[in-house]
Amino acid sequence: MCSMPFGTGRVGEQRKERDKVISAIERAVNMADTTLYNQDCIAAMRQLNAESVNLIVTDPPYNLGNFMKKRDTNLKKMRDNFFGSAGWDDMEFDEWSKSMDDFFQAAARVMKKGGAMIVFMAIIKVETIIQLAEKHGFYYKTTGIWHKTNPMPRNMNLHFVNSTEAWVYFTYKKRTGTFNNGGAMFHDFIETSVTPNGERKYGKHPTQKPEGLIQHLVEILSNPDDCVLDPFMGSGTTGVAAKRTDRNFIGIELDEAYFKIAQKRIQEA
Ligand SMILES: C[S@@+](CC[C@H](N)C(=O)[O-])C[C@H]1O[C@@H](n2cnc3c(N)ncnc32)[C@H](O)[C@@H]1O
Repeated sequence: MCSMPFGTGRVGEQRKERDKVISAIERAVNMADTTLYNQDCIAAMRQLNAESVNLIVTDPPYNLGNFMKKRDTNLKKMRDNFFGSAGWDDMEFDEWSKSMDDFFQAAARVMKKGGAMIVFMAIIKVETIIQLAEKHGFYYKTTGIWHKTNPMPRNMNLHFVNSTEAWVYFTYKKRTGTFNNGGAMFHDFIETSVTPNGERKYGKHPTQKPEGLIQHLVEILSNPDDCVLDPFMGSGTTGVAAKRTDRNFIGIELDEAYFKIAQKRIQEA
């Protein structure tokens, strides 16, 4: 189990209220345990026990916000659904790279030896992510591709439509870890549609991942009752996948509006 005090970044009534909600979540998941923090992930991860996490599946800011803002359209309709305008991916490269370094350091402390980590990333930033993770003891395994079969056809008559994101797979302090393939061959190329509206009914997050994509990775790289952590959980997709597959889950999200969406989604999963 990976149970932690709930929401220690908040105090007073708000915290008591959340304690009630998390208790409800614990009951609903039928033995599995979910703990959510509305806090900066580095601060929250300091509260977790060392060597307690089997799997991290996370989707941090890609450091593309400023780049995308310069090249994108000003149409409001697009901006509402566009991470470049969301405000959480606006760092300069050096600041972002330092924040990722801090993240891998904190991740290394909480990982179990032989645990695994998946980091979603823009393809042009993958090399930076591998260097930083290796510095903190992670063993690089694979760069995989997620292909979206129905991407937004933005500027389709001007250039190649962006339809891919990368995911980078590491193990910690060992060269292999849990890999539940049941004898099947799993490719490093995963294809799904973009997140369907049915998965966004509790509120929209501009980079919400499809549940099927995340569940595929959770099931292969961890076992029931393992502890799964997502330090940049956004709308809580990793938590939904973990709960559905009887893993314990720790989720961290800085933004209060996204945190509330995640809380609701995981509770009702
Ligand atoms: C790419 S999104 C994750 C989306 C998520 N995979 C989903 O399916 O909804 C990254 C998230 O990290 C959050 N974030 C950014 N910096 C953070 C930090 N220091 N600590 C915790 N969360 C952070 C952002 O608010 C954003 O929701």
